[in-house]
Amino acid sequence: MTRIVTVPTTPHEGQAPGTSGLRKKVRVFQQPGYAENFIQSVFDVVTPTPGATLVIGGDGRFHNRTVIQQAIRMAAANGYGRVLVGQGGILSTPAASHVIRKYGASGGLVLSASHNPGGPDEDFGIKYNIANGGPAPESVTAAIHARTTGIDRWLTVEAADVDLDRVGEAMVGEMTVQVIDPVADYADLMETLFDFDHIRKLVASGFTMRFDAMSAVTGPYAHEILERRLGFAPGTVVNGTPLEDFGGHHPDPNLIYAKELYDLMMGPQAPDLGAASDGDGDRNLIIGRGRFITPSDSLAMLAANIEIAPAYRGRLAGIARSMPTSGAADRVAEAFGVPCYETPTGWKFFGNLLDAGKVTICGEESAGTGSDHVREKDGLWAVLLWLNILAVRGISVDDLAKSHWARFGRNYYARHDYEGVDKADADALMAELLAALPSLPGTVFGPLVVAHADSFAYTDPVDHSVSANQGVRVLFEDGSRVVFRLSGTGTQGATLRVYLERYEAPSGHLDADTGVMLEAQVAAAEAAAGIVRHTGRIAPDVVT
Ligand code: G6P
Ligand code: ZN
Repeated sequence: MTRIVTVPTTPHEGQAPGTSGLRKKVRVFQQPGYAENFIQSVFDVVTPTPGATLVIGGDGRFHNRTVIQQAIRMAAANGYGRVLVGQGGILSTPAASHVIRKYGASGGLVLSASHNPGGPDEDFGIKYNIANGGPAPESVTAAIHARTTGIDRWLTVEAADVDLDRVGEAMVGEMTVQVIDPVADYADLMETLFDFDHIRKLVASGFTMRFDAMSAVTGPYAHEILERRLGFAPGTVVNGTPLEDFGGHHPDPNLIYAKELYDLMMGPQAPDLGAASDGDGDRNLIIGRGRFITPSDSLAMLAANIEIAPAYRGRLAGIARSMPTSGAADRVAEAFGVPCYETPTGWKFFGNLLDAGKVTICGEESAGTGSDHVREKDGLWAVLLWLNILAVRGISVDDLAKSHWARFGRNYYARHDYEGVDKADADALMAELLAALPSLPGTVFGPLVVAHADSFAYTDPVDHSVSANQGVRVLFEDGSRVVFRLSGTGTQGATLRVYLERYEAPSGHLDADTGVMLEAQVAAAEAAAGIVRHTGRIAPDVVT
């Protein structure tokens, strides 16, 4: 019998998982016992049945390998029978979700801070996913947090580090560790979902793309799927080698951090499709030649065409979107006669709907789209679905967007982010807004009249759990709206997000400038919330 070592510990403050697991600076994670306390709290809460399988993988950022070795030894001490870990410590978040499902694991540790920068002075994160492959629900994350506040020991075994770079098997204590190819299972799954032959024909006919992996986890996946399996020319995938610090960049596929791609797509040398993914591979950015597709529109356009892809033929059961995501998808759902669910921000809220077969596709304004093939959002999946649709319909991204708006109308949409705001200032702004809610209806802001204002609460239709206080909505009489929310994924101060939306019917202005179209909503947001007064900021840091 391997000796289990019990290491006494005391709680570390602030180990509450946020929107997407525990995220902190690397320096915080490097404190003695910090990661161990959290991982032990997870194991204490989920209490694996002896012999259970655990999946471990991360986005390859700085500190990934250290925590993986700690977690493997702790898993052995906590009774797991098998750990599956991606070669090099790599597993994209959607690939981890798939591996959990495919091999019947009881759960997985996903090591990532998603789109946040990496490196010794940047961010790290640990998230626990449950047996369905999705992020743990709030009941579980709350229990984990509670456990971190009372933890007094963690368990490990004395064992050497596992060689993560070689595919194969090793023993750690009584537990088997399988180092697996991180790409193969995922790439095979994609082939079962989409019409690769059709896409290959499109490529052969001269269709070009650029995929920016942002020096993050999707590089190896994109090389294998886009270049090797689909025949795109070598060089289609750029920044395709995962780096511990993402080359010093923000691996966030938006118009700020993927500006080079954006500029290319707006210029004369643009390929037919530009796409990018984030640090851990679950987000996506889609840009056609001369046409950026907002994530909210992408969800609606993919939902309207999803039945083109072989695995989805005749089975669009429903659509789900997070509350701040635009209502474009709702119009598709209405036209197709399927339900549309509005959930709080965070992919975990889609899990029950997907498990219950109530929805087939889900998406968020934060550049996430996915389906019931896994229980995470999936960046490359979205790119492949776009390719499949373009291949079969034989039109450009721009034409697809225009035909979509001509049928469903267009939801003009923007998000204004105020980053690194003083936490107390941000809290005061939200508190004041909440207090003002009852008096807002009827208030006139320029051309807009408030019809309804509330603090969004969600009752899960499957387990009936209630999540309150999920953002403030101000809805205007003309159908436009402004939403206020504090980010749940930041690691410094507070980030205020202001989401702005306005609908134009098919008979309206379908190709106008988004900034111009949303001027009244921007002014109303300032008037209602006093952003300048509370934060001292006269303009947002990021507009997406
Ligand atoms: C992560 C989650 C998403 C969520 C996003 C919101 O990426 O996986 O599901 O939409 O965080 O981030 P925020 O910073 O707005 O809380
Ligand atoms: Zn991510």
